[in-house]
Amino acid sequence: MVISVVVMAALPAGAQPSSGGVVIAQADLQGLQAIRQSLVDPRGFLRGWNGTGIDACSGGWAGVKCGDGGKVVAIQLPFKGLAGALSDKVGQLTSLRKLSLHDNALGGQLPASLGFLPDLRAVYLFNNRFAGAVPPQLGGCKLLQTLDLSGNFLSGNIPASLANATRLFRLNLAYNNLTGVVPSNLASLPFLISLQLNNNNLSGEMPTAIGNLRLLQELSLSNNLISGSIPDGIGSLSKLQSLDLSTNLLSGSLPVSLFNLTSLVELKLDGNDIGGNIPDAIDGLKNLTKLSLRRNILDGEIPATVGNISTLSSLDVSENNLTGGIPESLSRLANLTSFNVSYNNLSGPVPVALSTKFNSTSFVGNIQLCGYNGSAICTSISSPGTMASPPLPLSQRPTRKLNKRELLFAVGGICLLFLLLFSCVLLFWRKDKQESESPKKGAKDATAKAAASKPAAASGGGGAGGDGGGKLVHFDGPLSFTADDLLCATAEILGKSTYGTVYKATMENGTFVAVKRLREKIAKSQKEFEAEVNALGKLRHPNLLALRAYYLGPKGEKLLVFDFMTKGNLASFLHARAPDSPVSWATRMNIAMGVARGLLHLHAEADIVHGNLTSNNILLDDDVSPKIADCGLSRLMNATANSNAVAAAGALGYRAPELAKLKKASNNAKSDIFSLGMIMLELLTGKSPGDTTNGLDLPQWVASVVEEEWTNEVFDLELMKDAAAGSEAGEELVKTLKLALHCVDPSPAARPDAQQVLRQLEQIKPSVAMSASSSFTGEPSQTIATATTVTDDTKSTITE
Ligand SMILES: *[C@@H]1O[C@H](CO)[C@@H](O)[C@H](O)[C@H]1NC(C)=O
Ligand SMILES: *[C@@H]1O[C@H](CO)[C@@H](O)[C@H](O)[C@H]1NC(C)=O
Ligand SMILES: *[C@@H]1O[C@H](CO)[C@@H](O)[C@H](O)[C@H]1NC(C)=O
Ligand SMILES: *[C@@H]1O[C@H](CO)[C@@H](O)[C@H](O)[C@H]1NC(C)=O
Ligand SMILES: *[C@@H]1O[C@H](CO)[C@@H](O)[C@H](O)[C@H]1NC(C)=O
Ligand SMILES: *[C@@H]1O[C@H](CO)[C@@H](O)[C@H](O)[C@H]1NC(C)=O
Ligand SMILES: *[C@@H]1O[C@H](CO)[C@@H](O)[C@H](O)[C@H]1NC(C)=O
Ligand SMILES: *[C@@H]1O[C@H](CO)[C@@H](O)[C@H](O)[C@H]1NC(C)=O
Ligand SMILES: *[C@@H]1O[C@H](CO)[C@@H](O)[C@H](O)[C@H]1NC(C)=O
Ligand SMILES: *[C@@H]1O[C@H](CO)[C@@H](O)[C@H](O)[C@H]1NC(C)=O
Ligand SMILES: *[C@@H]1O[C@H](CO)[C@@H](O)[C@H](O)[C@H]1NC(C)=O
Ligand SMILES: *[C@@H]1O[C@H](CO)[C@@H](O)[C@H](O)[C@H]1NC(C)=O
Repeated sequence: MVISVVVMAALPAGAQPSSGGVVIAQADLQGLQAIRQSLVDPRGFLRGWNGTGIDACSGGWAGVKCGDGGKVVAIQLPFKGLAGALSDKVGQLTSLRKLSLHDNALGGQLPASLGFLPDLRAVYLFNNRFAGAVPPQLGGCKLLQTLDLSGNFLSGNIPASLANATRLFRLNLAYNNLTGVVPSNLASLPFLISLQLNNNNLSGEMPTAIGNLRLLQELSLSNNLISGSIPDGIGSLSKLQSLDLSTNLLSGSLPVSLFNLTSLVELKLDGNDIGGNIPDAIDGLKNLTKLSLRRNILDGEIPATVGNISTLSSLDVSENNLTGGIPESLSRLANLTSFNVSYNNLSGPVPVALSTKFNSTSFVGNIQLCGYNGSAICTSISSPGTMASPPLPLSQRPTRKLNKRELLFAVGGICLLFLLLFSCVLLFWRKDKQESESPKKGAKDATAKAAASKPAAASGGGGAGGDGGGKLVHFDGPLSFTADDLLCATAEILGKSTYGTVYKATMENGTFVAVKRLREKIAKSQKEFEAEVNALGKLRHPNLLALRAYYLGPKGEKLLVFDFMTKGNLASFLHARAPDSPVSWATRMNIAMGVARGLLHLHAEADIVHGNLTSNNILLDDDVSPKIADCGLSRLMNATANSNAVAAAGALGYRAPELAKLKKASNNAKSDIFSLGMIMLELLTGKSPGDTTNGLDLPQWVASVVEEEWTNEVFDLELMKDAAAGSEAGEELVKTLKLALHCVDPSPAARPDAQQVLRQLEQIKPSVAMSASSSFTGEPSQTIATATTVTDDTKSTITE
């Protein structure tokens, strides 16, 4: 059985268990036979569980793992379609540490005898059909760390005795039919990190002592019948990242202490009867990305301080009784992608930034709200910056100076890159001016500026010109556009980094490109910059993101144009996906190999150290094949910018330890290998390098789990599913984990080079290596062909 391989490989050499030869202990054999008898195995996974059992401990019995003396230490048979019941004789496996039978169809009662297994640490029985009570005896498992019985038909109360299992750090009883109260003594479990009791029929009040769970990171009680108010002690859960109390019967007002939970990332209180105001102190939630207060009875105003929560990406206060205006400060929330204030009693103008980003469904049901698409036009023009929609003809505008944004709307162009692309504004202005000669105050302003920049800018079509004095240089590739096309493309922000902001630009012909606008004053002198950027434009490899063009603006603006990658970056692909979109082991391996290939080309062929490799700048194309972005960008930048970038990578957790001591970016390829190792750990564990677990960073945490012989606990749960279904996956996971740990060795000299990493990855999973290289077959020759045209193309520079 695959997962057993994982456990074995993780055991230190001294404690080598009986993989060959050790005979199973008699009591354990009887236990297993009884378990086999009560199971129904329609797909025949347990075919080998027959005969004398002489081979039960040597791999003959799928899913069984033994330790010293032929004692069974683990049963792991997830996703096997097993039905029937779990025999009470499981209590004979007195050395059992791990029982993993999740995602099967097991029914009947949970055996109370589990409570008599002194070594039991992990019980994964979720997604089965167990009914009846949660056995109170489970509280007797003194070493139990994880108890996951979610997704069954368990009923009755949550036994208070579970609080006796004092080592518990994960307790998940969600999606059952449990009733009664949340036992208050669960709040005394000293190590509890995650408590999920959502989707049951629990009632009563939340335990007031909940604040004692000092290590708690996740608390979900949603979809129950819990009443009363949110206890004030909640403010003591200083590690809490996710709090979901939605769809209950909670009342009272929001406790002020809630807002000193600085680590909280997600707060969901929707579907309750919570009243009172939203306190100004809400900006104490400095790390919040999701806030839902929907469908309560909150009144008062939306505090302007919400605009201070810069991390906020989703805000829903719909269906309350809120009054007053939408604070202008919310315009500052650059990451806000989901917004809903509908069905309140709000009034006044919607801030422009919000009305342009969100459609009417975010605002409806507030009779006195104006200035969003589909609403009344705000009548009081005196409030600046609120003029969002149906643009008046320019001639009817009041004579006050128009700001750039209004100007853009007025002429119908949606230049979201407007700050840098003043030239785009000028273009429109010129056209506009030709059409109507009527002089206006704003127009004078703009034409004055146009004259000041470069009067030679002849507006023009095909190929060149019209960019207000800039210079566009194309490298090889399928893209053809003019500077005008580029500057006036519709653009949306994809992300920001220390080097600049990346936009997705939609060209007039409907194609997309990614445009990186470099920050001001971070590049080398123009001459050096051009020499370097022309070299980078020649870099071509299937796993390196191709630089297709660059643009130098008249005021020193610098744009780099790359292929647009539909699947975004690896970080969000891994960490921000929908719950039901697993990423398979083969896909992850393909990504790891692709990154290694790209890095090898960069190091060995191009002699470039990336210096800032993170999962944020690994992009994925339609086939989920990786392309390393930002290659060699550090060569374009001055030293200050580069040390800032290294610091930023450090904050994300990718910086090699040796770089922490250096002020400047080092040119060591082995630092890139460290980052590659972190990315491999990220692929294996599903965790971000920035995440810390019990104060350990990702490599430390992985190393600690491996030391404690619980290697399979480090892997992303999804991968365990693969490991269960596939054949060699378990062993591949462990080998890849070892390789990754090798790459993050604190000593640079000890790390392998890119060539060695790639070779080992290919040995670990030859099937992916083969399919990857065969899917690239067309590429190399094409790459060579295009590379030769580069030099010629580079000359087709567009200059004014
Ligand atoms: C046990 O099952 C295996 C696989 O079906 C079979 O090859 C073997 O002969 C069986 N052994 C006994 C003793 O029944
Ligand atoms: C739990 O521990 C308490 C004492 O701490 C004891 O009275 C109780 O019987 C224990 N319950 C179980 C089920 O072990
Ligand atoms: C909660 O209880 C009600 C009736 O007692 C039942 O209809 C409902 O299905 C239960 N909900 C869950 C999630 O079990
Ligand atoms: C949940 O329990 C209630 C009674 O406690 C019962 O009426 C209901 O059918 C149960 N629901 C399920 C899904 O088992
Ligand atoms: C949060 O607020 C509560 C109540 O106001 C207080 O007891 C607690 O110490 C505060 N926690 C922190 C970390 O400030
Ligand atoms: C807030 O989030 C950042 C980045 O995710 C993290 O480094 C920081 O520790 C968090 N702050 C708290 C108080 O948890
Ligand atoms: C928070 O927001 C308010 C209102 O927008 C503002 O006055 C205040 O200075 C901000 N505080 C911080 C720390 O940014
Ligand atoms: C905004 O989102 C981006 C991408 O998810 C993230 O890198 C950045 O840190 C966020 N900004 C803030 C202020 O949270
Ligand atoms: C909303 O507020 C108004 C006045 O402030 C009050 O009359 C009304 O009852 C409130 N509605 C709800 C659902 O609380
Ligand atoms: C809406 O708010 C106004 C005051 O701004 C109040 O007079 C009115 O009663 C409120 N309406 C409802 C339905 O709450
Ligand atoms: C409005 O936006 C929401 C969320 O972005 C989207 O689901 C919905 O289809 C849009 N509705 C209209 C009418 O554009
Ligand atoms: C906002 O909430 C309302 C009511 O809950 C809903 O009808 C609407 O679809 C939501 N709009 C968005 C953009 O989520």
